[in-house]
Amino acid sequence: MPIANGFLDKKDFSNEFFFNMEVGFNEELSLFQLNDHPKPEKMFNKNYPFFTGSSEYMKRHFKSYAEFVKKYLKTNSRIIEIGSNDGTFLKNFDNSENFLTGVEPSKNVADIAIKNNIPTINEFFNTVSAKKLKKFVGNTDLICASNVICHVPNLNNLIEAVDLLLSKDGVFVFEEPYLGSMFEKVSYDQIYDEHIFMFSATSISKIFSKFNFYLVDAIPQTTHGGSMRYVLKRFKNEDNESLKKIFNYEDKNNLNKIDSCLEFKKNCEISKDNITNKIKSFKDEGRTICGYAATSKSTTILNYCNIGTNYIDFICDTTKEKIGKFSPGKHIPIRDINYFHENMTDCVYLFAWNHKEEIFNKEKNFRGEWFSHVNL
Ligand code: TYD
Repeated sequence: MPIANGFLDKKDFSNEFFFNMEVGFNEELSLFQLNDHPKPEKMFNKNYPFFTGSSEYMKRHFKSYAEFVKKYLKTNSRIIEIGSNDGTFLKNFDNSENFLTGVEPSKNVADIAIKNNIPTINEFFNTVSAKKLKKFVGNTDLICASNVICHVPNLNNLIEAVDLLLSKDGVFVFEEPYLGSMFEKVSYDQIYDEHIFMFSATSISKIFSKFNFYLVDAIPQTTHGGSMRYVLKRFKNEDNESLKKIFNYEDKNNLNKIDSCLEFKKNCEISKDNITNKIKSFKDEGRTICGYAATSKSTTILNYCNIGTNYIDFICDTTKEKIGKFSPGKHIPIRDINYFHENMTDCVYLFAWNHKEEIFNKEKNFRGEWFSHVNL
């Protein structure tokens, strides 16, 4: 596999980086994970092309996420966001009432947040940066993250860093793509270099209890095709009925055992056959195909299913950092959305299936056939 967000120029084709992407399951922690992964610096650097604010739906989601955590705030609370990207989440807090700090390793996105007056430090979040932060932030009441904890290979160090900064009655809240949803939807495109772990409530509870943190709530989210919001504290609350339900669901569906992974593996192979057959039959019928949204997820699909420019003419996307480049591994040209409007194909592979409402709403004029490897 290539780097999922490694959109590249023609001149870089010959020295493109590839790694062997393989998943495993840690039975002790019920943890679904990559067995090997590229160094984080290869993925999160000055060219990181993912901007949270590129989706209106995500902007609304982050506003409601901020409303949810406001109940944990006091007057003049200290809030840290790990992997704060372009500041889309922190923007929802009043800078004058709270002490906000974003921690973001990718310089290009951190710079956007800073430009928008979101105090941001351009570093990886770990015990080294946490010690520095502790000096000027002190004890933190709320630490948040979204789609980032699963990106951090040294989870132990990350939790130690949270432990260093979080006050005695502080709260750590984060959201990540959910293993249960990935299994249900067979959305194996969630597996790529950045997603080192695919969590469940069971795995989160087991991992954090090693550090005396307790999972006190887990709330399903529709974002990223099915995510879970985890709430962790240093002490246990009274029994939480909805959390119990989630643990029961995970037990019933064997999410804490390797059996569910083996079932998933079979389903992935079936999904691969189905999508390649579908694309081949479109071609046989003489229909043209393009991709919609050059997502990181699409890199897994295209490379695992071996779909290249022999089938897909181009992929359209709104991200200026991706437009004019080529997709990782398969080198399909990335075009802007206007190009799609002027060159509509007969069929469109919706790679951003998780944004389908937003995209279908924008593309009402498209009269051809949308398709994807998950149900639309
Ligand atoms: P997302 O599913 O968040 O991507 P990833 O798999 O990388 O997490 O989708 C973000 C990408 O989709 C980004 O490249 C922008 C593109 N996009 C569009 O081109 N148009 C749209 O309307 C939306 C919502 C996203």
